[in-house]
Amino acid sequence: MDTKKITIAIDGYSSSGKSSMAKRLAATIGYRYIDSGAMYRAVTLYAMRNGMIDDSGNPDTKKIIAALPDINIDFAVSDGIQNTILNGENVEKEIRQMAVSNNVSPVAAIPEVRHALVAKQQAFGAEKGIVMDGRDIGTTVFPDAELKIFVRASAETRAQRRFKELIEKGSQASYEEVLANVVHRDHIDETRSESPLRQASDAILLDNSNMTIEEQNGWILDKYNEAISKL
Ligand code: CDP
Repeated sequence: MDTKKITIAIDGYSSSGKSSMAKRLAATIGYRYIDSGAMYRAVTLYAMRNGMIDDSGNPDTKKIIAALPDINIDFAVSDGIQNTILNGENVEKEIRQMAVSNNVSPVAAIPEVRHALVAKQQAFGAEKGIVMDGRDIGTTVFPDAELKIFVRASAETRAQRRFKELIEKGSQASYEEVLANVVHRDHIDETRSESPLRQASDAILLDNSNMTIEEQNGWILDKYNEAISKL
């Protein structure tokens, strides 16, 4: 049995399928999985509930920064499903709603929010044996990760996938609305000054536009085995 544990960073565009891939890989190899996007979504939900985001989606940066010590985020696994816990409450379902998706990127662009969440993410990964997905995991959170993957797919493919997922979960959304949200978040994520979405120079690029889920799961497992064999 192999006991060597590594850190695996999976970054990429919104709705690129990186979370499903990261989750499956972690389950297959017995690693912990952390969804860093869920943490930004939880902060956003807290800000929305406490009147810190106006009707046009502009966050009250000062109030959000002041509230950071009051926002406790954790994860709890039950029946194999990972739940995001905000101050003791399971908010897993709520943070996936379009209302949160529409507000999250400006909140995630606030440097102080990023510093607080990055510190927490680094603490989660302190003992390795972790798969974390997000936008800046390979560049900022774990620049020394042994395996870095950067996932991309066309905006239309990603919007189609997210739309299907929302409809299956019973949410009301139109394809056009989802596509607009995906394109808008890409733009904010790529152009913010604090750790923008960018492929790390040592990350392996995966374009999964034309890949099935099974194909991509096999692909990443091969990359993991290669990374482990190099140790
Ligand atoms: O699942 P989806 O691709 O829709 O997004 P997510 O991973 O849940 O992340 C939601 C948002 O949080 C992103 O659009 C980013 O604005 C932000 N985010 C970030 O800035 N840095 C991360 N490491 C993860 C997410």
